Amino acid sequence: MEDNSDRIKKLEGVDRREFLSFCAQIAAALGLSSMWVPKVAEAIENAAKRPPVIWMHFAECTGDSESFIRSNYPSIASLILDVLSIDYHETIMAAAGDQAEEILHKAITTQKGKYIAICEGAIPMATPPGPGGKPGAYLTIAGKTGYEIAKEVCTDALAVICVGTCSSYGGVQAQKPNPTGAVGVGKALGIQTINIPGCPHNVVNSVATVVNYLLMGTLPATDKYGRPLFAFKKRIHDQCTRRSHFDAGQFVEEWGSEEAKNRYCLYKMGCKGPQTYHNCNIVRWNQGTGWPIGAGHGCVGCSEPDFWDTMSPFYERLENVEVPFFGIEASADKFGLALTGVAAAGAAAHAVVTLNKKKEHEEIIVHNKNESSKATETDKKKEGE
Ligand code: SF4
Ligand code: F3S
Repeated sequence: MEDNSDRIKKLEGVDRREFLSFCAQIAAALGLSSMWVPKVAEAIENAAKRPPVIWMHFAECTGDSESFIRSNYPSIASLILDVLSIDYHETIMAAAGDQAEEILHKAITTQKGKYIAICEGAIPMATPPGPGGKPGAYLTIAGKTGYEIAKEVCTDALAVICVGTCSSYGGVQAQKPNPTGAVGVGKALGIQTINIPGCPHNVVNSVATVVNYLLMGTLPATDKYGRPLFAFKKRIHDQCTRRSHFDAGQFVEEWGSEEAKNRYCLYKMGCKGPQTYHNCNIVRWNQGTGWPIGAGHGCVGCSEPDFWDTMSPFYERLENVEVPFFGIEASADKFGLALTGVAAAGAAAHAVVTLNKKKEHEEIIVHNKNESSKATETDKKKEGE
């Protein structure tokens, strides 16, 4: 059996510096200081402590596996062999058919209660019309429904981590009128799952969730939607690189305009950053370089439950964002006008906004079509995009 020194050597082969930089990213995502980086590395390298992972596919587009496979630091090989110890992943494993079924069966029976099930995709629960249709048959693999497979794999798992919005809450499959009755894995099975939504999710967040378990022996604290607080505690709007333009009333009003080139705020182009909680601005994609707003597209709220229904139309703004000190129904139009119309008023408003930014835990209530949610912090980051 491979021991730690073999494993470390293998990591050194992949590129130890890159591995440590990935560990630093994981530590930062978990809100840990750089002093924790060696401990994160140690936790990942300790093969004896690392639980095996079984990665399941249900109704989805494989975007979360794509996001995972595109990880450069560390490479996919390192992620599979050394970071997550993936025993089963249909998209990337060499085995197929009966051989794959056998591997899955062996993993869940010999590792009962010890493995982590990572789920990608929603579970259809409706019964197709016509003779012989059975509940959940819209997704059938080797004669079993997605629901039956999910139950078999998730019931005896140490933990179930749902990656992507589909496995977390149903995603696009669950969009109205939802003909297949698609729901998230937790809802389908009536179990508590750790949900890492996003369309797709970010691999830093899924690995950080496992590392949290390795370091602390517990799964991370979550919000009411099962999302780890380390990644979903803050609103995008409060960490956005364009926030200073929102505060200054500077908005993009047309694609391709000077304002768009100047990277002004995308609120009037439909950005749902004020209604969305995610650390995508911090962890980013493409080797940590890109995220939707950075690329010039408004947020569509991809990490919120039912975002296909509640956040659309994606290119129209929601008028009812509450802005502190500017009234309950103040819209970005009014807010911008208040700041840019009258110099004195603008200066006063700026002072108020600055004061507000310093007040930690100030609640900014955001209304969307169906529900209201609360933000707990209003600090922002001003990195160059
Ligand atoms: Fe950023 Fe969107 Fe908020 Fe504008 S509305 S500051 S683009 S999150
Ligand atoms: Fe998704 Fe919005 Fe972030 S669309 S990736 S939550 S900017």
